[in-house]
Amino acid sequence: MELSDAQEDLTELLISEEEIRARLAELAREIERDYAGDDVLLVGVLKGAVMVMADLSRELRIPVTMDWMAVSSYGSGTASSGVVRILKDLDADLTGRRVLIVEDIIDSGLTLSWLLANLNSRGPASVEICTLLRKPDAARVSIDVKYVGFEIPNKFVVGYGLDYDERYRNLRGIGVLAPKVYEH
Ligand code: PRP
Repeated sequence: MELSDAQEDLTELLISEEEIRARLAELAREIERDYAGDDVLLVGVLKGAVMVMADLSRELRIPVTMDWMAVSSYGSGTASSGVVRILKDLDADLTGRRVLIVEDIIDSGLTLSWLLANLNSRGPASVEICTLLRKPDAARVSIDVKYVGFEIPNKFVVGYGLDYDERYRNLRGIGVLAPKVYEH
């Protein structure tokens, strides 16, 4: 779905499909350089990261494998609590592997902070993070993120994997959700 198809529910078109594609290509070149000669395991965090994983992985010109995790924050309404439980764990053994976590957005940073500690406890050679979006204003914990697509303002964004109530994930770009959609 194009951003314009959901225009009535959005106040702003933040990042276009073309801008996402161009930025992911730049990140892919950095990742290829940094991981040259190594096997990389891309770990996608469901569900939001599906689009980033699909496009970033196809942009990469190095061999990669992919695995997925699903996690959930306890007691989460709109904000993360930092207490995370695993809904679906990885199939892969991380021992000695170079792991690159692929995320759609880092908001408070609590999910990633927990995930980093969890994956690091499994004996990998390295764990790094690639996120398409980061909200610096919302950060509650500081995380070392190696690859960031775009720094965005602290607004409610949807599209390209990001949802509100499971909707808008299939928008090709990223927009700011109009308050009228969630204030009722
Ligand atoms: C989103 C996003 C991150 C997390 C970031 O997932 O994909 O995993 O929130 O928030 P934080 O930095 O404040 O912890 P969400 O829980 O919305 O699940 P989804 O990917 O299935 O939509």
